[in-house]
Amino acid sequence: AEQTFIMIKPDGVQRGLVGEIISRFEKKGFYLKGLKLITVDRPFAEKHYSDLSAKPFFNGLVEYIISGPVVAMVWEGKGVVATGRKLIGATNPLASEPGTIRGDFAIDIGRNVIHGSDSVESANKEIALWFPEGPANWQSSLHSWIYE
Ligand code: GTP
Ligand code: MG
Repeated sequence: AEQTFIMIKPDGVQRGLVGEIISRFEKKGFYLKGLKLITVDRPFAEKHYSDLSAKPFFNGLVEYIISGPVVAMVWEGKGVVATGRKLIGATNPLASEPGTIRGDFAIDIGRNVIHGSDSVESANKEIALWFPEGPANWQSSLHSWIYE
């Protein structure tokens, strides 16, 4: 089944948004397959965001991500990569629709609370980076109440 990597950034943890964010993914029907609170170091953050290394905001972005613990998660379900991005909302929170996580809880692009993989390919790379031990293996007994 499709999986995505979701990270609650340090501002989301500091602001007490962990429960709210997990709740939105759970209520949608996605399955939690990995979860840890972790503070990453600079080389790790640079690796995670390596595609953005040429951007002028790269250094600030890395500083932001290493500034405190993050909640790293693997979520699973049909279309979870694209739909996870919809739950998250546009990168710039002032452009994110209300009802999305960034639209409801953020203002600045450099404090946008949450990360979600942008493709199945990135998701697989990011899950391998953050969860080298592999995601958990369990099946929800609610499956046939969520999927036809
Ligand atoms: P992620 O889910 O975090 O990867 O966000 P995204 O996929 O919506 O955006 P992108 O991958 O392009 O950028 C990664 C992160 O860099 C964003 O979430 C922002 O926190 C930050 N970022 C992107 N663009 C800008 C910018 O123009 N200025 C600043 N300060 N930060 C930016
Ligand atoms: Mg991105």
